[in-house]
Amino acid sequence: MQMDSSLIRMTDQEFATLSGYIKEQYGIDLTKKRVLIEGRLTHELQKRGFSSFQEYMDAVFGDKTGTEVTLLLNRLTTNLSFFMRENEHFRYLRDEALPFLARARGRTRDLRIWSAGCSTGQEPYNIAMVIDEYFGGQKSGWDTTILATDISMKALSAAQQGIYTDADLKDVSPGWRTKYFRPLGEGRFQVADTIRKEVIFRPFNLMDPFAFRRPFDLIFCRNVMIYFDAGTKAKLVRKFYDHTQDGGFLFIGHSESISSQQSPYTYIQPAIYQRRG
Ligand SMILES: C[S@@+](CC[C@H](N)C(=O)[O-])C[C@H]1O[C@@H](n2cnc3c(N)ncnc32)[C@H](O)[C@@H]1O
Repeated sequence: MQMDSSLIRMTDQEFATLSGYIKEQYGIDLTKKRVLIEGRLTHELQKRGFSSFQEYMDAVFGDKTGTEVTLLLNRLTTNLSFFMRENEHFRYLRDEALPFLARARGRTRDLRIWSAGCSTGQEPYNIAMVIDEYFGGQKSGWDTTILATDISMKALSAAQQGIYTDADLKDVSPGWRTKYFRPLGEGRFQVADTIRKEVIFRPFNLMDPFAFRRPFDLIFCRNVMIYFDAGTKAKLVRKFYDHTQDGGFLFIGHSESISSQQSPYTYIQPAIYQRRG
């Protein structure tokens, strides 16, 4: 294989240290992604005048402010996301999950919703749009605020802005474009304020203990666990289960199925699970 000579190479020891740290702290398994790490960090090392990964890691691990780790995560996380991704999920949400939850939570009119690993915001905004359309004129009687979390501060900052390009909206229907987006000119669109105010963005590492006051009715954690090994994934699914309300749902990415031995959730259809008490 031809190697790009402009990349700064890692020694075996440097690679083991950095990939081990990322896996232990954030669950992301990069132990087979040496070239990816080199590719994503070489420019940073060059810009900062570091000639080796060891020098760079000394700076990262020695920085007690957390700034260096934040920059590292911005570079090493994969943040691909788009509107209407795995659209069967949004159809199931509209046709099955919301009608069920609207009946089940009709007394409190409070739905607890979490987009875990929300990246640049398309997923939580998409959920908010489906909810807005489902409840229509009844929406104001319900609390359907969505918590959206990620470890990439760069992704969260883009998410908060809610500004997307024409290409990002390629799968969004003309009706939704008009209803839920405000054109800013030059092919850019901002998510409507009515939808933006429904989503709260926060940094959160899924490897940390969950300290939520109340369990969730809907958890979306899609295309996040593909980067985790089987043990990490199983532990995380268990934590999700313990924080799902009876009758609540977990949505994961289509390539991330969980076996019935791995979790007590009831399988509903590909990549959708329910907690049945
Ligand atoms: C490919 S994006 C998925 C975005 C969205 N859920 C979707 O399906 O379109 C994966 C996201 O998971 C986040 N992530 C990875 N490990 C995480 C962790 N330990 N805690 C929180 N977020 C994490 C990454 O920063 C990235 O933004």
